[in-house]
Amino acid sequence: MSIINFIEKFKKLNRTLYTTPSHGQGDFVAPLALKHIGHKFFTCDYSEIEGFDNLSNPIGIIKTAQDRAAEIYNAKATFFLTNGATSGIIASMYAILKRGDKVLIARNCHKSVYNGLVLTGAVPIWLMPQYNRDWGIFDSINLDYLEETLSRNKDIRAFIMTNPTYEGVMSDIYRISNVCKKYNVILIVDEAHGALWHFHKALGTPALYQGADIVIQSLHKTAGALNPSALLHINKHSPLGTKAIQQALNLITTTSPSYPMLVNIEAVINFLDSEKGKFYLYDIVKNVNRLVRTLKQIPNLEVYSYNNDVTKILVKVTNMSGFELSDILFEKYNIEDELANEKSVLFLTGVGTTKAKLKKLEKALIDLCANNIKITEETPQKHFEPVEPRVRYIPNLVWGREYKEIELKYALSRVSMELIADYPPGIPVLLPGEVIKKEHIEYLSGRQKIKVLV
Ligand SMILES: Cc1ncc(COP(=O)(O)O)c(C=O)c1O
Repeated sequence: MSIINFIEKFKKLNRTLYTTPSHGQGDFVAPLALKHIGHKFFTCDYSEIEGFDNLSNPIGIIKTAQDRAAEIYNAKATFFLTNGATSGIIASMYAILKRGDKVLIARNCHKSVYNGLVLTGAVPIWLMPQYNRDWGIFDSINLDYLEETLSRNKDIRAFIMTNPTYEGVMSDIYRISNVCKKYNVILIVDEAHGALWHFHKALGTPALYQGADIVIQSLHKTAGALNPSALLHINKHSPLGTKAIQQALNLITTTSPSYPMLVNIEAVINFLDSEKGKFYLYDIVKNVNRLVRTLKQIPNLEVYSYNNDVTKILVKVTNMSGFELSDILFEKYNIEDELANEKSVLFLTGVGTTKAKLKKLEKALIDLCANNIKITEETPQKHFEPVEPRVRYIPNLVWGREYKEIELKYALSRVSMELIADYPPGIPVLLPGEVIKKEHIEYLSGRQKIKVLV
């Protein structure tokens, strides 16, 4: 039985519960929460009471829902995550890596990978993806570079990469997974931004269909679930078992997962997999494509369209930095983008992107370009062009070590004790244990001090 059907039936039993959660399924809701969240949400919020299931050892309704999802995604196993893709990334690292194991990581990874390094004690080998200066974004993974790195480091246990990138750029996962297999390396793909790919062919090919061992997806980013809902899939053809993943998840996630989130995860997957859901998504993608076509007609405006997921609209305007464009849209048109860099601005769309919302962006960009609108940036933002990191100490060994704050101008060649990552996208610029280079100092020049290892 599905989670939602079970809860519906359970409500009719009218059982008296002397259990957590203490709001008693909405018998108490703080007045402001009632005003803003409503009562119904609380009526779905249960803990592991009789008849319900346990996310840390599912044998009932959660297991049924996860098994059903695994069928839909064609996975060996699918895990529902109520602690975000972050928990899936850390758990997969925990399940696979032991202290001292080498792990290859594409540098445009999310900072949760760093947390996984601190916890596991694994040794990172950083792989720099190609960088696209014209757009200020990371590009795809270069296969020759990957193969060369793996052939030089035969003891690498796993490769962790992000696909698509935040901006939607795709790598050739099929060929990457073949290279990984050749060197007996486990491939973990952070597909946080590709959660709709299983449900619309034109967006991108899911990594699960291309040979990745583990794939993690955020369901809240594009697929319309509550923050921070996510999924972890194990590939049917991977030698990895499910137990190690479950144990690792149990180590780092809450023992009180949110049932409203589980209900929502189940509902989102079922909807996207339904005929109605497919038509709905088809319509959204059609509308986004239409907008992109219109934007491409605007003089002085360019839309990124090289091997990327169309739901992530990346634009740039001639003679204007991405930061400036972003500020104008915010201040003059009341539009907030997902992120900006020196060259371009990213607009994320997803299942909740209405036609009206798209129209507003279209009108704003047409107006802005036609009238050559400009504003003066009060404090121009800095852009960081990634540099090869120099690791002095691995994250686990530097964690908790003594540090002091020094003036930035004296920080060259010192060992950083700060994790510097703009959010979004949460990609590390500098990590604790890494040597501070002149490029870092230039980028951070807006601040006075930095924490360094004593
Ligand atoms: C590429 C990537 N991976 C993982 C995450 C973490 O996802 P979540 O918020 O679901 O924990 C993010 C969040 O921004 C991300 O951009």
